[in-house]
Amino acid sequence: MKESHEELNRRRAEALKGGGEKRIEKQHEKKKLTARERIRYLLDAGSFEELGSLVTHRTTDFGMADQQYYGDGVVTGYGTINGRLAYVYAQDFTIFGGSLSETHAEKICKLMDLAVKAGAPVIGLNDSGGARIQEGVRSLAGYADIFYRNVQASGVVPQLSAIMGPCAGGAVYSPALTDFIVMVEQTSYMFVTGPNVVRTVTNEEVDSEELGGARTHASKSGVAHRTAPNDAACLQDLKKLLTYLPQNNRELPPSVPFELGSEWREDLGNLVPDNPNQPYDMRAVIEGIVDAESFYEIHAEYADNILTGFARLAGKTVGIVANQPLSLAGVLDRDSSRKAARFTRFCDCFNIPLLVLVDVPGFLPGTDQEWNGIIVHGAKLLYALSEATVPRITLITRKAYGGAYDVMNSKHIGADLNYAWPGAEIAVMGAKGASEIIFRKEIAKAEDPEKKLAEKEAEYAEKFANPYRAAGRGFIDEVILPGETRRKLIRGFASLENKQVDAPKRKHGNIPL
Ligand code: COA
Repeated sequence: MKESHEELNRRRAEALKGGGEKRIEKQHEKKKLTARERIRYLLDAGSFEELGSLVTHRTTDFGMADQQYYGDGVVTGYGTINGRLAYVYAQDFTIFGGSLSETHAEKICKLMDLAVKAGAPVIGLNDSGGARIQEGVRSLAGYADIFYRNVQASGVVPQLSAIMGPCAGGAVYSPALTDFIVMVEQTSYMFVTGPNVVRTVTNEEVDSEELGGARTHASKSGVAHRTAPNDAACLQDLKKLLTYLPQNNRELPPSVPFELGSEWREDLGNLVPDNPNQPYDMRAVIEGIVDAESFYEIHAEYADNILTGFARLAGKTVGIVANQPLSLAGVLDRDSSRKAARFTRFCDCFNIPLLVLVDVPGFLPGTDQEWNGIIVHGAKLLYALSEATVPRITLITRKAYGGAYDVMNSKHIGADLNYAWPGAEIAVMGAKGASEIIFRKEIAKAEDPEKKLAEKEAEYAEKFANPYRAAGRGFIDEVILPGETRRKLIRGFASLENKQVDAPKRKHGNIPL
């Protein structure tokens, strides 16, 4: 072999060793895969093409000139996932703890620029001790270069983040700017300031896991969209997520082959209880409507009074937003409004049609909600749905009360097709509350006020607790049987496939943040 070829092979072999055997062993002891193992697991076998494997840092302070590792703590390149192109970077904790140097950041930026030009998703596998301490502000500049690209790429190509180790300080803001975050349980954490700083500033005693572990971010903060029990499951989850998404904002989402039958679903008719105050699981409604086992939930543990996620209808991706009567009767509140708004905007960016399932008794009352801005947070969902130009279909399964009726993809805010089941109640509020207000005097004067209230309640319910007033005005396009829902939705979305909306020219709207 030629000497020059041997030299390249020697350098390549060294790059593959990362920070060396000992550090790789340490990584495995922590139940974490190495950066290269992760990439191998994520991409189709043999498809990875590495870029920048021989990059080294340029720091000379603190004896760093003598500590050189090929790759500089991040493995970058492209490959395919289920045959589709994807750009990947994986931080290598075995090299300076995966910390971000100027050159490390340059590698990520180069990859992101390529991904945007090629129109393919960017997947970041984060495992890093944060800013490379020896580099100071150059490292901070590197973060900002990445943040800027995250924002420029937002809505152009899907950006997915896996958190597979530490992710602290400024490092959290790149994942936060991406579309989805999946965290590995027990071995990953994210926070702006760690437990020591928290103790010093606020006197709170909290460990890393409780402060910023996967469970915390999946249920309390909503920072994580999903969690996985280990590295392999996390990477598998990212692969699954990608199956629902287009490569970029100019493409439609991929579809899987599907043969249509009658699509009648008898069981859907038995899911909603006769008693309007009895809860039921909206997940069962979703599963009854969509293709078998295709529902992929986003934010399952966060703000669980609303459900969001992707699914397939006759093989085609749809985004679902659905009130969940099992939690807080499906009421809209701050967190559920924000959760649904964010999901809606992702779908709209990437041409994913929206199905909105409605069973909502209104907005959650209380000082906590009001003082913490339910007005502005509720407005986010209203805004996000109103601006969405993808095909939008609504199905009211039971209650659609008050302002929440308007917000939940009503005809008036631009939904294309609005359906309701026969038991739907579309009204300003429930019959009892309504009667207590408008018949107050009559009830007070009555010999038996309770009997009178019951009479009035029945009268109001007969008039308004049904879908026919709304259908009579055309606010509901059709009242449909539960069993025929799936067929109606498949045909509805098919009819809207070429939907086009020409919005007036503007720089961008001003969503209430
Ligand atoms: N800059 C440079 N090197 C770093 C680093 C950083 N930010 N973070 C970690 N490293 C290096 C360590 O010096 C160590 O090097 P070695 O293998 O030559 O001994 C290696 O990465 C692994 O770090 P270690 O501390 O042994 O790993 P750990 O799993 O015990 O702890 C952290 C991980 C992230 C909690 C810990 O490394 C840490 O606190 N890092 C600093 C975090 C920080 O303050 N970052 C800057 C602000 S964002």
